[in-house]
Amino acid sequence: MEIGSDFYRELESITLNCKKCGGTGFHRSARKGRVQCTCVAKITKALALHKANIPVRYQNFDKRKLTSAFKAANKRSLDLFKEQTDDINAQVRNGSLLWLFSKPGLAKSSLVGWVLSRALDQGAVPYYLRADRLAGLRMDAGRDSEAKATYQYIIDDVDVLAIEEIEKVYLPGHMTYPAQSFYSALADIYDTAKFLIVTSNEQPVEVLRMFPDYLGDRFTEKSVQIGFSGKSGRSSHA
Ligand SMILES: Nc1ncnc2c1ncn2[C@@H]1O[C@H](COP(=O)(O)OP(=O)(O)OP(=O)(O)O)[C@@H](O)[C@H]1O
Ligand SMILES: [Mg+2]
Ligand SMILES: [Zn+2]
Repeated sequence: MEIGSDFYRELESITLNCKKCGGTGFHRSARKGRVQCTCVAKITKALALHKANIPVRYQNFDKRKLTSAFKAANKRSLDLFKEQTDDINAQVRNGSLLWLFSKPGLAKSSLVGWVLSRALDQGAVPYYLRADRLAGLRMDAGRDSEAKATYQYIIDDVDVLAIEEIEKVYLPGHMTYPAQSFYSALADIYDTAKFLIVTSNEQPVEVLRMFPDYLGDRFTEKSVQIGFSGKSGRSSHA
């Protein structure tokens, strides 16, 4: 994993600016002696979020930040979402598939970031990427050792995989090389025990129509589909 110098300084500043330990990373307790400061756990978490490839803007989303209008309009969806993300390790064991769909700006990516961060807290290994990147990694793995290592990490080590914008690999027909690579990647993933989370702007049934039958059936069989409705959260930020 590459760590740029800016990110390194950011990590370093977590302890350096910590008021609890005065930048040492530990403090002394009469009963327990030398105790690691909570700022060290913050660094570990920040590194893990980085390794999970979660965009920074989605790393700190909290469900409590959801607007009350959104909560009111999506009560059943949010209840189902809660049920599906309560015990992450159970979802990994089940090989569950959670599919979030809505028009743009309705908090899908934010909620995905929240689940992946929660996965870390529950001891599972998360990873985030967009569908086009997954297709690219599968294509490049044959000749690029870095792509190969990342792809193998996703297949072998990742427990909770988020694939965003799954319909954006709309490709002319099933038999183009990128499309084939994408479907091969999904087949590879399907053969491992993972909690898979996908997002789309289109209805799942429309997206699945684009898939080859063998994949479409597998993905329909296991998926819990949750749609969100309402006004884009982006407009209020614009
Ligand atoms: N209901 C909401 N309450 C609070 N903030 C929201 C809500 N919906 C969206 N936002 C905020 O609006 C911005 C866009 O949301 P986000 O990127 O999660 O949407 P999205 O559903 O993934 O959109 P897209 O389909 O375009 O990928 C983010 O900053 C997010 O935190
Ligand atoms: Mg999004
Ligand atoms: Zn500290």
